Amino acid sequence: MDNSVVAELRDIVKIYPDGVKALDGVSLTLEKGKVHAVLGENGAGKTTLMRILYGEIRPTRGEIILDGRPVRFKSTVDAIRSGIAMVYQHPRMVPTLTVRENMELYFESAGLGEEAWRRLEWATKVTGFEVPLGERAEDLPLGVLQRAEILRSLAANARILILDEPTTNLTPAEVGGLFEAIRRMKREGLALAYITHRLPEVREIADTVTVLRRGKVVASGVDPRRVPGEELARLMVGELPKPAPRKRHKPHGSPVLLLEDVEAQARIRLTIRRLEVMPGEVLGVAGVEGNGQDELVSLVIGLLKPLRGRVEVLGGTPSSPRDFLRMGGAFIPGDRGRALIQHFSVAENLAFLLYAHQGPLMLTPRSLEGLYRRVAEEYRVVAEGPWVPVSSLSGGNQQKLLVGTQLHLGPRLLVAVNPTRGLDVATTRYVRSLIDGLAAGGAGVLLVSSDLDEVLELSDRIAVIYKGRITGIVAREEATPERLGALMGGA
Ligand SMILES: Nc1ncnc2c1ncn2[C@@H]1O[C@H](COP(=O)(O)OP(=O)(O)OP(=O)(O)O)[C@@H](O)[C@H]1O
Ligand SMILES: [Mg+2]
Repeated sequence: MDNSVVAELRDIVKIYPDGVKALDGVSLTLEKGKVHAVLGENGAGKTTLMRILYGEIRPTRGEIILDGRPVRFKSTVDAIRSGIAMVYQHPRMVPTLTVRENMELYFESAGLGEEAWRRLEWATKVTGFEVPLGERAEDLPLGVLQRAEILRSLAANARILILDEPTTNLTPAEVGGLFEAIRRMKREGLALAYITHRLPEVREIADTVTVLRRGKVVASGVDPRRVPGEELARLMVGELPKPAPRKRHKPHGSPVLLLEDVEAQARIRLTIRRLEVMPGEVLGVAGVEGNGQDELVSLVIGLLKPLRGRVEVLGGTPSSPRDFLRMGGAFIPGDRGRALIQHFSVAENLAFLLYAHQGPLMLTPRSLEGLYRRVAEEYRVVAEGPWVPVSSLSGGNQQKLLVGTQLHLGPRLLVAVNPTRGLDVATTRYVRSLIDGLAAGGAGVLLVSSDLDEVLELSDRIAVIYKGRITGIVAREEATPERLGALMGGA
């Protein structure tokens, strides 16, 4: 055997208890000092495969070979002790504990004491990551928590590091830092598995690529620098549908959203002289995360009261999110992990999402089943039925469920935050077409997105937010990534 191979997954099959065949005979090897990208659209089986290597779930069939010997992990603790670590899309830290306490728990589970803290210093040097050990996890941005998780993995002797869509919650600068750290970890001899559906990342960081589609390997041993991006995309999703030509809307009437001389304070102070969204218009808000986007959205949906100034939604001022929904607003939050209750059924989640509109009369099992069928059909949600837990849906299907329930009611103002974050090419295209269609039908859309391509693709006008202020509003025709980038950096 090639002794640079550290881990091998052989012919893995995974059938979940509810009958979903997530993996169907998948094999893959990880090598020392190499980044192996696992590429595939939502629901392809990427996370499932890596959770198997990490000992979190057991394969229905197939083998894991570590250093040439078959292993059977009873839990993630076994995997961690064998030098495997996994960093998920959502941090696995106890929110109310500090970073230091979280690390301690992790080290303990790995059976490590002082030596792990010594290795932490080495890990800090290798990665260039600094994290505030004394802060509570819940007070820190996702990017910082991710760095803390990578650090603790290295400190606990990880030789194999699995990163599951690691750039989803990062700012562009943080992505740069992560890639630099990955390059240095490679030099230290780590084997990395890198899950993504972002092609440019694969080209930048991966040494080899395995492409999964619907639980099967459709390509392996692919050198990302030799295969054109288009080919990778085609492998990932099958044939790509052509994007529909975009119709331009003509805004008319009085604004569906108007902010005037507003000041508000939450994490940061927000000062807005004037911002409006017309019916039939998509107003994009671009900016590096944490520059007042949360405050702006909270104001609009009635969660945050302004210190002064006027916030007018559809002619009124919502006093609560429920009020906002009743007035004809709809909201797609940035974090679907929090918007959906993962261990509740799809139908129960529908009930929660639509409660504000429909009141308790909607909440019979039969009406929920009917509603589920309509939403699932109209918005292409693939699920086993209304009563399976939301957690059994892939990320893309969860997002379609969320977007579908909001659009189902025909809102006149949609507030959408990072609506395609973490979605694959095909689902992204679909969700964007829904937003575009809503605006074409006369609704106004406030699109808050840290994805510049998304903002450029969907918006009629683009407002750039920086340190709590709108630093510029640019018509789409005049917007270039360079110009927006400059405004985003406060230039
Ligand atoms: N705990 C579970 N129970 C039942 N089915 C599941 C479970 N987790 C995942 N699945 C199903 O298995 C399939 C593969 O899901 P998985 O999460 O591995 O995909 P993925 O490639 O990571 O997708 P994404 O890009 O959306 O994260 C999907 O059909 C999903 O609905
Ligand atoms: Mg996944």
